[in-house]
Amino acid sequence: MTDLRDRVAFVTGASRGIGRAVAMRLAAAGASVGACAREEHARGVVDEIVAAGGRAEALSADVTSPDSLKAAVRTALDRFGRIDILVNNAGIARDQLLMRMKAEEWDAVIATNLTAAFTCTQAVLRPMLRQRWGRVISVGSVVGQSGNPGQANYAASKAGLIGFSKALAHEVAARGITVNVVAPGFIETDMTAAIGDGAREVLAARIPAGRLGRPEDVAGAVCYLAADEASYITGQVIGVNGGMYM
Ligand code: NAI
Repeated sequence: MTDLRDRVAFVTGASRGIGRAVAMRLAAAGASVGACAREEHARGVVDEIVAAGGRAEALSADVTSPDSLKAAVRTALDRFGRIDILVNNAGIARDQLLMRMKAEEWDAVIATNLTAAFTCTQAVLRPMLRQRWGRVISVGSVVGQSGNPGQANYAASKAGLIGFSKALAHEVAARGITVNVVAPGFIETDMTAAIGDGAREVLAARIPAGRLGRPEDVAGAVCYLAADEASYITGQVIGVNGGMYM
């Protein structure tokens, strides 16, 4: 198993779904985890990590508030002394055909999915540059690669993460920092819970693997990218989509 002992990870949106699975997986590999979520939502995952013998702290932030996000990063740096791995995971969808999309729906999705990644990455970058080692991993989406009707805001935010990551990968590659995107297909979480059984079957039939993904499928890819053995992988988009986009 990947060895992340002595590494410290900061995971946004760690209270449930993919973020929770990522926090658990990184902790199982030995990393200390700053589990960032709104209010006390990350308590559950932290308790579970600690009960399994791992090290984790619940950090409270609304990722759309730069001040609260930067304060959470500062708290993690105080508690753990460093941040080696940043996982920009928190995300929302506000689906609507473009003709009907409200500016607030556009702004909320861009602020949560894209601007928060900018804020958080900038906050951890200086310590990473100083220690000449770092991993910035953003959770994108297959929709950022393929587009999807009703998701112009979401697709733009996720495609934005790809451009952001490639630009930053150029800037910091020589300093031992890799920057990548893990782009999930359809994963069984609260975000996809509203899909009805019939639509789920139609969806699964479009996926070569024949099923929706699990949060753990995504967590495995994130954990690999976080490890020393992935040090030569940067500026990449790793699809975790059961083959639905190739
Ligand atoms: P989820 O809805 O279960 O979890 C989202 C997490 O983000 C929650 O912990 C939530 O509290 C947090 N979050 C949202 N807004 C926040 C804010 N303003 N401040 C702090 N935390 C906030 O969704 P899921 O599925 O686990 O999604 C995680 C990431 O994976 C998102 O970026 C999503 O876009 C992406 N993704 C999900 C897919 C899926 O099929 N479930 C597919 C592709 C990408």
